[in-house]
Amino acid sequence: MKKLFAVLGDPIAHSMSPAMHNDLFAYYHIDAVYVPVHVKAEVLEDAVKGLRAMGAAGFNVTVPHKSAIIPFLDGVDELALRIGAVNTVVNENGKLIGYNTDGPGFIKSLQKIGSPVSNRKILIIGAGGAARAIYFSLAQYQQEEIDIANRTFEKAQKIVQECPFPVSSTALSLNEASQRVENYDLIIQTTKVGMFPKVQEQPIELLKLKNQVHVCDIIYNPLYTQFLQEAERMGATIQNGVDTLVFQGALAFEKWTGIFPDVQRMNDHVLKLLGGTEC
Ligand code: ATR
Repeated sequence: MKKLFAVLGDPIAHSMSPAMHNDLFAYYHIDAVYVPVHVKAEVLEDAVKGLRAMGAAGFNVTVPHKSAIIPFLDGVDELALRIGAVNTVVNENGKLIGYNTDGPGFIKSLQKIGSPVSNRKILIIGAGGAARAIYFSLAQYQQEEIDIANRTFEKAQKIVQECPFPVSSTALSLNEASQRVENYDLIIQTTKVGMFPKVQEQPIELLKLKNQVHVCDIIYNPLYTQFLQEAERMGATIQNGVDTLVFQGALAFEKWTGIFPDVQRMNDHVLKLLGGTEC
């Protein structure tokens, strides 16, 4: 029987996940379908009950449900629980178990380009769900420092306070981050600033960037944000959000099928859908 997979979110029309996973199911000859489902917050519990009743093999959860879903699941893995957000659910013998592949997906994207994942001085810009997943995942590896800068300072402070792993961390304002930018060798932009249609915006100044810094932006629309363009002009190596998107999807696919998929194929497929070439 055809296996059912889904992604729940609000909005959901923009999600790349259905195209990405349906292509993989066809490529690996797996009889399955992956559908986008528009779910408002007030019916999230009903949606989970519905998927459970239909015997869905697994599903993704996206904005704004990644934290709210937790009480409706039968179990949550330790990292996802610490992050406080689930983006992937696996039906394990009738039990719905939640995982987070956003943070681990980001780590894999660094490993792909040979960038070290430990002993680094890191600045994370933003303190939303994506920042939290990336912060907790990176903090598991020995780091010299992970600072977080956010428009709402208290949210950055909260992440620093809640980190269960020992790491030197300071919460900063966006202005402070602009002033201290030369301190870091890895900078990760996780806010929506610079996303289409407001492509001229960027969250902090990079004028003091030091040489040999690696700058990531988890935005993939546009592929080449104002922030990444400035970082490249200042001599940084840059990486956009396509790799993180692909690797979080690849890790979810692996949890559902046991197959770690061809990420180059996923990358090419996503780029074709986005209508661009990678930076
Ligand atoms: P996600 O779960 O995708 O990370 P989110 O939880 O809505 O999304 O977080 C969005 C992040 O972008 C937050 O850090 C937010 O800053 P605030 O905590 O101050 O809201 C940041 N952000 C959104 N719009 C911004 C803007 N115009 N300027 C600066 N930061 C912004």
